[in-house]
Amino acid sequence: MKVATVVGTRPNFMKIAPISAALRRDGFFEPLLVHTGQHYDAKMSKIFFADLGLPVPDIDLSVGSGSHGRQTGQVMARFEELVLKDSLDLVVVVGDVNSTLAAALVAAKLHIPVAHVEAGLRSFDRTMPEEINRVLTDSISDFLFATERAALANLRAEGIDERKVFFVGNVMIDSLLTHRQRAAECTILERLALTDRAYGVLTLHRPSNVDALAPLERIVTALEEISSRLAIIFPAHPRTVKNLERFNLIERLDTSGVRRIDPLGYVDFLRLVDCSGLVLTDSGGLQEETTVLGVPCLTLRENTERPVTLSEGTNCLVGSDTHEIVAQAEKALSVPRGRPRLPELWDGQAADRIVKVLRERFS
Ligand code: UD1
Repeated sequence: MKVATVVGTRPNFMKIAPISAALRRDGFFEPLLVHTGQHYDAKMSKIFFADLGLPVPDIDLSVGSGSHGRQTGQVMARFEELVLKDSLDLVVVVGDVNSTLAAALVAAKLHIPVAHVEAGLRSFDRTMPEEINRVLTDSISDFLFATERAALANLRAEGIDERKVFFVGNVMIDSLLTHRQRAAECTILERLALTDRAYGVLTLHRPSNVDALAPLERIVTALEEISSRLAIIFPAHPRTVKNLERFNLIERLDTSGVRRIDPLGYVDFLRLVDCSGLVLTDSGGLQEETTVLGVPCLTLRENTERPVTLSEGTNCLVGSDTHEIVAQAEKALSVPRGRPRLPELWDGQAADRIVKVLRERFS
């Protein structure tokens, strides 16, 4: 039984790593790791393979950047060639990026079963490219692995056959729990001369926040204010740096208390977040990671597809309004932290559950 596991972008690597390891432990499937090349900078891609113990990809489709149509189309054309050559029994895709949808579409059209890990999450905001990718990938998948109960309800509401849906927990948290101890031994705090909880961490890359001047300027203004009291470390995504330069905001950011650094690897970043006093982000996965770590998280978005991080976690939606961001940051820093609560099945065993389901179906 040959299974292709597909990665393309940074947030895919920590989701595939535990699945890849569980497949190898189980031994029933012959795994083939395919990298679409959607992310290609060493700091956005290669560094994660060593950090997460992922094998070197068996195949690299090297699609690179481009418009949505072009990027999705390139992955499809190149992945189709591979699928036609290598007779595959199953394709596993994770998350909600363009590579996820492209690989799923190719497999479904060639009648190869598709497993979607992180199925059923919905922001109900169709202006997000990821929401389109989620809805379409789920609609053509044969195995839908969900991280939280809200996802089960979403899939039911869309009329998806419940026999295809499995509540297994969160593979991203499998990775976090596997590597947290090792992260505690890394030297990122010393290298950046930081003390425990005396700094915040920022990540920012969503098109709705960084591709237009108005929201990006509102966010930079809020960051100037917050960082006058709390140093903020900002491992910057290449897309955001490009836009900060284009809108002439980079100097304002760089002369504030925000320290812009290159993107970090998995272990360094995990440690940086674990020891921080506050996270500001528009990432999806970081909302989940901060929930498990018990770090207050201000999400610079109007909505989230991961509602369990609001109901049980440390997440708070603040949008991109300057005053709201500043006010919520002050509030988060002034209240004592509670003990983190682990959402149901976020116990480090999600990948094993996934492989068990697949093995039972295929054997
Ligand atoms: C993609 C995903 C997004 C995910 C994010 C994680 C889609 C639609 N978006 O967004 O869901 O949260 O990855 O980072 O799939 N670039 C580089 N080097 C790289 C990769 C990108 O310089 O290795 C720059 C390029 O200028 C590129 C831009 O970043 O045009 C955007 O990259 P792209 O893969 O299109 O989208 P992301 O914003 O990274």
